[in-house]
Amino acid sequence: MAIIQEKRTKIIDLLHTDQLGESVVVKGWVRTFRNNQFIALNDGSTLENMQAVIDFSATDEQLLKRINTGACIAVKGELVESKGKGQSVELVVSEIEILGDADAEKYPLQPKRHSLEFLREIAHLRVRTNTFSAIYRVRHIMIFAVHKFFTEKGFYNIHTPIITGSDAEGAGEMFRVTTLDAVNPPKNESGDPDFSEDFFGKETNLTVSGQLEVETACLALSDVYTFGPTFRAENSNTSRHLAEFWMIEPEMAFYDINDTMELAEEFVKYLVSYALQHCTKDLEFLNRRALDEEKNKPQIERSELSLIERLKFVANNDFEKITYTEAIEILRNSKPNKKKKFQYLIDEWGADLQSEHERFLVEKHFKKPVILYNYPKDIKAFYMRQNDDNKTVAAMDVLFPGIGEIIGGSQREERYDELMVRIDELGIPQEDLDWYLDLRRFGTAPHSGFGLGFERMIQFVTGMTNIRDVIPFPRTPDNAEF
Ligand code: 4AD
Ligand code: MG
Repeated sequence: MAIIQEKRTKIIDLLHTDQLGESVVVKGWVRTFRNNQFIALNDGSTLENMQAVIDFSATDEQLLKRINTGACIAVKGELVESKGKGQSVELVVSEIEILGDADAEKYPLQPKRHSLEFLREIAHLRVRTNTFSAIYRVRHIMIFAVHKFFTEKGFYNIHTPIITGSDAEGAGEMFRVTTLDAVNPPKNESGDPDFSEDFFGKETNLTVSGQLEVETACLALSDVYTFGPTFRAENSNTSRHLAEFWMIEPEMAFYDINDTMELAEEFVKYLVSYALQHCTKDLEFLNRRALDEEKNKPQIERSELSLIERLKFVANNDFEKITYTEAIEILRNSKPNKKKKFQYLIDEWGADLQSEHERFLVEKHFKKPVILYNYPKDIKAFYMRQNDDNKTVAAMDVLFPGIGEIIGGSQREERYDELMVRIDELGIPQEDLDWYLDLRRFGTAPHSGFGLGFERMIQFVTGMTNIRDVIPFPRTPDNAEF
């Protein structure tokens, strides 16, 4: 029987096994082939390779030539204790089969370090590197941890729509969804495209947030969350922005802003601890990788803590909680502000904070994650609950080292009249939000929620500095390849 038809064992299950001396089948992709004898085989089940040792006399030369980096092979042999360093067991190959050739001349991934920029251009192959396979495994474990955390707390996962007729953040940075002819759309009397003839009979977009829809479930099921893709057409070419990213948005009935800040802190600490416990091998690898990268940076830009130290620090220390007003005071009196080192100088209460300010507070001033709350209402969304000072809203942002804002959330304005005032002030068409207003008309309740940017969380956990490297196929301005 050809080995392809035989049941294989995953490498992760063979590394710590009592199957020594048994015959096993391993299938995977060749990482390296040394001295016509040692194959480093990887099947993605773990960072570690299986060393498969070939007895030269037992194989024909034509076959050996096809064991190239990138080729897919199946090997059968006896599992023995390894004599070499770096692995506990190895496979003494008795049979080998090439399942998929990889032309050594043409295969773009060679066993050497490639730049992340180059790897982004071959995003369909980069998952075959140690770095990206580690990132994708961590990403999976984090998805699982999100559902585990909320399930254990009695939250229900709600699927909110991806195509929507409402603009949750009022930011006007949405991708249109249409089946109208782009070149020659039907026109209405004023000569504009006639969206009543569009697929949904109205204008629709890809969602920027599932929040408004998940609020409907909150006011029935109490504690809910949505975890889905979100889309923003902001033209931000930064290392922290994607046009398509995933967001986790819990929404809790009877929570005020303080309860919400507490939950947010508990949640991110849980995710970080979960990664430390369940992604040990991959995090150790990413830690070494990050240390290597640091060596190329000037001394002042190097971080004081290694990746793993940073994760432990966040998991074990209380976040700093300060109001926006306190933050403005700190920033106004800070060195970079006085020496005009900030690109945006802070001189007045009401200024929107830029990522340079957020990072100053977290990385230089407090040296730990910071939760800022009670922001000026003018720089925040219409649905946030107004405080008694008439100036601020019960909003909060969680700021992380190296990342800046990782969570944004708020207590929601549950009072119909107050909400209507904001909707009017901001000129939001009421008919678009009529269903949302029903939640305040019928059985309204204090409630709150937040959104965690999943990729920013993965950036923090993996130590990757560019958000394009923590999602398999990043969508950014001018880039929707694959
Ligand atoms: O602060 P944001 O815009 O909040 C909301 O969308 C609320 N509706 C959340 C809620 O209360 N339910 O976004 C939340 C988080 C940010 O803190 C950030 O981590 C992430 O989403 N985020 C992005 N991540 C990647 N690329 C982008 N373009 C992002 N925009 C926001
Ligand atoms: Mg925000």
